[in-house]
Amino acid sequence: MIPHPATQLVIFGATGDLAQRMLLPSLYGLQHDGLLHERFRILGTARSELDRESFCAQVEANLKDRVPAADLDAASLRGLIERLDYRPVSLDDSESLHGLAAEVVARRDGDVVFHLSTAPRWYAPICRGLGESGLGGEGTRVLLEKPIGKSLAGSIEINDGVARVFDEDRVFRVDHYLGKEGVQNLISLRFGNALFEPLWNARHIEQVQITVAETVGVEGRGDYYDDSGAMRDMLQNHLLQLVCLTAMEPPSQFDPSAVRNEKLKVLRSLRPIGRAEAATHSVAGQYTAGAVAGAAVPGYLEELGRPSQTETFVALRAHIDNWRWSGVPFYLRTGKRMPRRCTEIYLQFRAVPHSIFAHTGARVDPNALVIRLQPEERIELMLMNKTPGLDRQGIRLSQVALDLDLHEEFAHHRRRLAYERLYLDAIEGNGTLFVRRDETEAAWQWVDAILDAWHHAGGAPKHYPAGTWGPNAAVSLTERHGHSWRE
Ligand code: BG6
Repeated sequence: MIPHPATQLVIFGATGDLAQRMLLPSLYGLQHDGLLHERFRILGTARSELDRESFCAQVEANLKDRVPAADLDAASLRGLIERLDYRPVSLDDSESLHGLAAEVVARRDGDVVFHLSTAPRWYAPICRGLGESGLGGEGTRVLLEKPIGKSLAGSIEINDGVARVFDEDRVFRVDHYLGKEGVQNLISLRFGNALFEPLWNARHIEQVQITVAETVGVEGRGDYYDDSGAMRDMLQNHLLQLVCLTAMEPPSQFDPSAVRNEKLKVLRSLRPIGRAEAATHSVAGQYTAGAVAGAAVPGYLEELGRPSQTETFVALRAHIDNWRWSGVPFYLRTGKRMPRRCTEIYLQFRAVPHSIFAHTGARVDPNALVIRLQPEERIELMLMNKTPGLDRQGIRLSQVALDLDLHEEFAHHRRRLAYERLYLDAIEGNGTLFVRRDETEAAWQWVDAILDAWHHAGGAPKHYPAGTWGPNAAVSLTERHGHSWRE
């Protein structure tokens, strides 16, 4: 059945950090651009005993703080606030949950989206409460934040709890990377151009690197983070989604089933990294005190205030066992307290089969395509070019970049938050940019094997000073195979 645009959004965890930092500013963005339906209402809910006025005052102050001045206008602010309401809820009290659900039912005049931005242990109980109040059926959708479990088993348990109430096509699992402009541009670049497809395979590509580097530490999220680590917090979701979009076959259409079927095939083709391979194919790291951008920063353990073996960095050498990618290493790495913030996909093409310049001593570097997603969106195609001028040995070559700066190209476009796209799609009922259950479970299955191997080997993560690109072992991971990380 074709979904109708939702007229009600219910945010669980509406006073929380994610809601204040991302969700409400994104809704403001949609309001500002006239993308919210006239009848659209937002009901915030959380444990805090606030009334509507104090909640709205909090939201307004927060938006004034966070929305860039150029995008902030009184009419849009008023427009959004008028759509807001608040009701406290106690998630461990089914009466309270039923009361909330009754209010949603009373106001209902169309589809409803529930956004669960709470600790995942509440997902099943919230869904159960909604279901008991007749809110799990046709015309309702549920958005789930990561992490969905800490392992395959945990994720199955949560997904089962949700599935008792919401059919899979009404479950929208958020991976906010999929809402990023740069990530959608990766899809557009691959499938909106005929140029790349013939080259996008093992015959022409030597190696792929995907880096998601952050300069921040764990900030105030130590307790959550320490229980999770870089593998569960970043690799299981954001990096593997980037792997999927980079490696998948062309879907027949840009629609939820076609795209997610192709992504799933990639996840299922990932060669397992188990106990026998973990030592040569994976590296876990943890930052010690150092300096990032010239400022001294403490080590992870100092920030946390207790001993821990949680990894803040992970690097992997992955393989996708299918025809397209046979033999091509996918080097994946992500870490906190890296020298700079950078999310990029680097595809290095194979070297020329024979260099006609070899006798002149000129080096011919392989071509590469760099798709930078953060901090700025940029596409660079690295080409060999003649260095201008004369030389006794003949011509000299150097590598230059065909450089497309997407901010410059689209300078008049506002930079959007990832949740703007995701909310709009959830409201419209389009799940293409959300993660399906089988994807998330295939990702956990792959990651679980690595975590099991680490656990079995018993070693501690290797240290790296904050402000560096991870432990030396991460360098060996590539260099052992004649490759090196792009830095
Ligand atoms: C979140 C992780 O999913 O992504 C955080 O939990 C991380 O640890 C964040 O900092 C990174 O997102 P972005 O959009 O800043 O790249």
